[in-house]
Amino acid sequence: MDQSLLNKIRENTDIVEFIGKYIPLTKKGKNYFGLCPFHNDNNPSLSVSREKQIYKCFVCGEAGNVFNFLMKYENISFKEAVRIIANEIGISIQDEFKTSENKNKVFYDIYDIASKFYQNNLLSTEGVKAREYLTNRHLDMNIIKEFQIGLALNKRDNLTKMLVKKGYDLHILNDLGLTTNNYDTYINRIIFPLFDTKGLVNGFSGRIYNGEKTNKYLNSKETVIFKKGENLFNYSRAKEEVRRDKFVIIMEGFMAVIRAYTIGVKNCIATMGTALTTNQISLIKKLTTNVYLCLDGDTAGQTATLNNGKMLVDANLNVKVIPLSDNLDPDDFILKYGKDRFYSLINSAINYNDFRIQVLKKGVNFKSSTELSNYINLVLKEISTVKDEIKREIMLKNLANETNVWYNTLEKKLNELLASQETKLKEQEIQVIPKKNKKNKYEKAMQVLIYYMLLSRDVINLVVNSHVYFPIDVYRILAREIEYFYEKYGYINIADFKTYIENNEALHEAFNEIIGLDLDSIPDDAIILDYLMVIKNYNKALEIKRLENLIMNEVDPLEQAKISNQIMKLKMESENNGK
Ligand code: UTP
Ligand code: MN
Repeated sequence: MDQSLLNKIRENTDIVEFIGKYIPLTKKGKNYFGLCPFHNDNNPSLSVSREKQIYKCFVCGEAGNVFNFLMKYENISFKEAVRIIANEIGISIQDEFKTSENKNKVFYDIYDIASKFYQNNLLSTEGVKAREYLTNRHLDMNIIKEFQIGLALNKRDNLTKMLVKKGYDLHILNDLGLTTNNYDTYINRIIFPLFDTKGLVNGFSGRIYNGEKTNKYLNSKETVIFKKGENLFNYSRAKEEVRRDKFVIIMEGFMAVIRAYTIGVKNCIATMGTALTTNQISLIKKLTTNVYLCLDGDTAGQTATLNNGKMLVDANLNVKVIPLSDNLDPDDFILKYGKDRFYSLINSAINYNDFRIQVLKKGVNFKSSTELSNYINLVLKEISTVKDEIKREIMLKNLANETNVWYNTLEKKLNELLASQETKLKEQEIQVIPKKNKKNKYEKAMQVLIYYMLLSRDVINLVVNSHVYFPIDVYRILAREIEYFYEKYGYINIADFKTYIENNEALHEAFNEIIGLDLDSIPDDAIILDYLMVIKNYNKALEIKRLENLIMNEVDPLEQAKISNQIMKLKMESENNGK
């Protein structure tokens, strides 16, 4: 790989803007901060430096430049990350880079061909009944095209034949779930393609459309490229919209998402009828911290709202609820009441906590003192989870009003709850405080010197001219490589040096730790020389120890005297240096 080209690509991609496309960043002082996507982050611990063009998380220790961020974030190779970033800024790279194509490419190709085949079927004469069904459901041609809706004909080997003729192996087709025991999996169903996070078709959901008595929807089985718990319907299409609107709406079914799309609400995704997984929550976190739940208006939907909402709140997202009444799902609601009412429903979405309280209130007999006090205690517990003090006060006032219990009584009780929670929280915090690696004085000195070498050519010169030997391998190699990089390219910075050592995995951990020091202004030469002295003295101490061992095993008194002389000399030198 040509290092100069890598430097150029990196230099043309501002890290703050780049990472900002993936996670919301806010400026604090000179740096930008966001929720770290590489661990389950509670407070924004990812810091991004525009000046140094690097990021680092001070909790999980992840650090690097734009390439490293993309690699880690998308779980791709270094080469792939370079290619994507180069592409974005219009730099074309040599063929050697293009070799490592996605190993699952052929599977995606097959799904792509199948999807186009199904789309074609829908438009053929045999698709007339299915088209009628879609028209009756108010899905027009634009939507059919947008969501690439298709049709599996009422034949048992329609797709199979076509794919086999194209040379695809039946084993693979079975593995991919397109065929089952060598025959078409989908027969006589309307086909809704499912897409992965990048927008490639990786599965299908097939719906019956002529009243057959069988499963309403038939979904792709789990395959190499389709994992139900890692997919969210419409994620790839909604990405940009969500980032713009700054919130996402989660629905249960994909028909609801498609319906919302027809009225211009394009920031919706669907779980496809299952509980949210932690994996899906991380996908959501990549787009926004504001989540609206708009699940079905039946009891199942309500339970799902409570459960999914809790998971989202625990993941530190702001959660609101768009409640639907009369057992309607968003699709039904929009068809029944129209676009405007759905828009105002979104605008009047309620906080998740308030929704929980509404649910708690259902069926409570306010005339029964037991039921009432029970209810009050549950609501207080709910309020105690709210972080915002003002919000808590409003909720408390509402509770006082609706129950006719004195505000001060409620407040006292709430404060007790809050106090007991705080002690619990503190106990937890003690456990999660990141372990600061305790370093010896000399080890710290090497780290600091390496950091400053990356910032200043003067420090490189001081270190090189001192001829100090770094007694730990990784640091010695790093110092040497920095010297080499500087000689070769005539400059040095952290971000490009990070790329330079990309292939040397043994150095990564030590280097990331050094980046984590986050030092700023370069100190005077005298201080640099002090650091060098710390290492020199350490080396001497090591040598003294070695010689003392030697003496113990030496039988010749003359040799013993010689060694002891050497030790004396070293000790005197160290003492003088210490002054
Ligand atoms: P619903 O039963 O609410 O379907 O299931 P829907 O979205 O309203 O669809 P229509 O309007 O009847 O066509 C919600 C989701 O649960 C999954 C699907 O992903 C669906 O979008 N589901 C439902 C299945 O996977 N299989 C089924 O048989 C039913
Ligand atoms: Mn429906």
